[in-house]
Amino acid sequence: MFQSLADNVDIATSVPELHRRFAVAPMMELSDRHFRYLARRLTRHSLLYTEMLTSKAVIHGDRRYLLDTDIADQPLVLQLGGSDPIEMAEAASIGQEWGYNEININVGCPSDRVQSGRFGACLMAEPDTVAQCVKAMRDSVSIPVTVKCRLGIDRDDSYEVVEDFVNTVADAGCEQFIVHARKAWLDGLSPRENRTIPPLRYPYVYRLKEARPDLHITINGGIETWDAVKAHLQHVDGVMCGRKAYYQPAFLGRADATVFSELPNAFDEFNTVEQLAEVARDYALYMQQWVEEGVRLSALTRHIVALYHKVPGARLWRRHLSENASTATDAVALVEDALQCVLVTSSRSVS
Ligand SMILES: Cc1cc2nc3c(=O)[nH]c(=O)nc-3n(C[C@H](O)[C@H](O)[C@H](O)COP(=O)(O)O)c2cc1C
Repeated sequence: MFQSLADNVDIATSVPELHRRFAVAPMMELSDRHFRYLARRLTRHSLLYTEMLTSKAVIHGDRRYLLDTDIADQPLVLQLGGSDPIEMAEAASIGQEWGYNEININVGCPSDRVQSGRFGACLMAEPDTVAQCVKAMRDSVSIPVTVKCRLGIDRDDSYEVVEDFVNTVADAGCEQFIVHARKAWLDGLSPRENRTIPPLRYPYVYRLKEARPDLHITINGGIETWDAVKAHLQHVDGVMCGRKAYYQPAFLGRADATVFSELPNAFDEFNTVEQLAEVARDYALYMQQWVEEGVRLSALTRHIVALYHKVPGARLWRRHLSENASTATDAVALVEDALQCVLVTSSRSVS
């Protein structure tokens, strides 16, 4: 149906350096291949990430289901969770074969499930283990192996914690780090609370970049405006946004114009009601193809319910999609009807 990475195993190349300037974060149950398809309609050049997959799932699971994705998703990073160097190396090598441009290790997720598997944020306390994973993975792939981490965990939250962690892992050959600029509390806070309660400490990430100018440092956490993105880029090499990109995807319609304007085929800024309608119509055709493959329409519409935000008719758009997605069979008609809520209401409110 689509040209997939799996059908093009020879095309794996590294992420071109400029693309690291702006990335859409890995988010479990959100940044799936369908959301990435939508994101690519809004930004040609931002670096996209998969949801985290465990090394075991990649090795033993249904690879086509887990790893297959549209070739247009590139540049695309496969995020892995795990702490066994041999398994991580094998999973990385499968990811490279599958056509991913980079492999990222999750050292930031604080959930209990992840801790019991001894990976995610608890590995902040085990820099040597992460370093061994990096080394084994780099030995098995030619694409970059990168790390996404926190500032620290629990009471280990001085600046030195993150710098020591990064120094150890960098010694094993990791050259790119994405730092979620807050620590994680492993005991007592839910993953959701761990994304809001520990305070953001951007200066720690800036200081890390000053201490290690040789490394590529991307900052992440609570960044929600393009002015903020530009301000951070004065201090670090890249910015990653998660929730803002998912819960207000139209935000991505300014990524290329703001960050990648010199790259070929960069999109002009677009965020008008009509321009977003074109994206929605394209996505409707995409959805229809997947519905014919047996995917539930509501699993696809969920990514566009927030396409319109704070414009007249946005609530009706959202409601129309949410209420009808479980019974509708024609994605194109569903989206066209929902669009009337925003297009009609907006033109009314304009006149
Ligand atoms: C629903 C959800 C799922 C997430 N899943 C992952 C994940 O799989 N791997 C990861 O490294 N971070 C994950 N994160 C954390 C984000 O990548 C990001 O670090 C965090 O949301 C802070 O960035 P933001 O403030 O721009 O959202 C998740 C975040 C959310 C909201």
